[in-house]
Amino acid sequence: MTTKKERVFSGIQPSGDIHIGNYMGAIKKWVELTDTHECIYCIVDDHAITVDYDPALLPQRTFDGALAVMACGLDPEKCALFVQSHVPEHTELTWLFNTVTPLGSLFRMTQFKDKARNALQRALNTRQGGARKTALFQLKNIGLKMRDLMGDLHADVDELNPTSPYKGEQELVLTELVARLNDRMGAVMQHLQVGLGVAEASVGLFDYPVLQAADILLYKAPWVPVGEDQEQHLELCREVAERFNRKFGDIFPATQRIRGETAKIIGLDGKQKMSKSLNNTIGILDSYEEIERRLKPAYTDPRRLRRDDPGHPEDCNIFALHKLFSSPEACAEIAEGCSQGTLGCLECKQRLAVSIDTHLAPIRDRAETLRANPSRVIAGIEHGREQASRIAVETMREVRDAMGIGKNALAKF
Ligand code: TRP
Repeated sequence: MTTKKERVFSGIQPSGDIHIGNYMGAIKKWVELTDTHECIYCIVDDHAITVDYDPALLPQRTFDGALAVMACGLDPEKCALFVQSHVPEHTELTWLFNTVTPLGSLFRMTQFKDKARNALQRALNTRQGGARKTALFQLKNIGLKMRDLMGDLHADVDELNPTSPYKGEQELVLTELVARLNDRMGAVMQHLQVGLGVAEASVGLFDYPVLQAADILLYKAPWVPVGEDQEQHLELCREVAERFNRKFGDIFPATQRIRGETAKIIGLDGKQKMSKSLNNTIGILDSYEEIERRLKPAYTDPRRLRRDDPGHPEDCNIFALHKLFSSPEACAEIAEGCSQGTLGCLECKQRLAVSIDTHLAPIRDRAETLRANPSRVIAGIEHGREQASRIAVETMREVRDAMGIGKNALAKF
């Protein structure tokens, strides 16, 4: 008996070099899942253009992204690996989903708020006075405006009494009061967003999670292997599916995250998530020398000042990385040496460099081969596009029919 394999969808940004956090947190799982599931994987270039980017560099990044996941062991014959913008149904479904997505849900997305705030922060950090001054003036003006608006709101809010009967002439007073309150709250909301740097962010960045929901639901994928930082986006994906289904009929599944074995990989700064933009990573294609060089200044147990101080492996990010890359026996030995103060941090890092290098060597080799044969990468993503497209076209037909749009809706005339 052949049972139909369950479908998996995931995406990765073509944002420069893929690092060991991406690999351990997601791509390794992607590869494993191709043995047990029907897997659809996507290089999300439509997502990449929601922040400032260089159109001359994007094609290289997109290609490098596909090459990197293939180098990590992803076989394009065993899954559908493709580039998002090559299947235009992703953006079409996004528009249709926009019509059932509440604004309020999108404003709650922490990734959007973070990215939007970062833009304001960047303006404040610029050394040229112009942008910085403008940002400061804007902030001041918004602050003053907010203060006035809140003052106005005060009296009106006190006046509104939801349990009062409001009969006869009172009814007119209520109508005016409610309209005034609503206007003022609208103005507060608008200014609050400007204050957070949201006014400068693009609608595309705001809509990012809806595009992500469209990615997943276009293939009706019930399973999505991503890091826990994406949980909020998957929540939105479930909300969109639910709202769509309620209005237009049961078409989409409730998507769930597949957790990787490793929850969150902390960067070499020992503080934040490993991330390209924080420069706290080791790239999957880094050479042994590069790995060593990156590890040297990496953060360790802060309580260990001298080599023979007893260390605390469980509080050390280097040990956390050993647990990912070194054998259990090696880890046990390292933990003992560290806590007894017999193994120095430098030596511990050197052993880690060797372990990481052992993991990455075959990936580097495959990357080199692919780099010499770019047509293999192109053929891989073309094969993936064909498979993805077949499903996407089918789902869109169903969706347009359910929503009463598209040429087919007029077939009866
Ligand atoms: N937002 C995801 C990330 O930054 C990338 C992504 C886009 C994605 N579309 C997706 C992940 C669909 C899973 C499913 O990691």
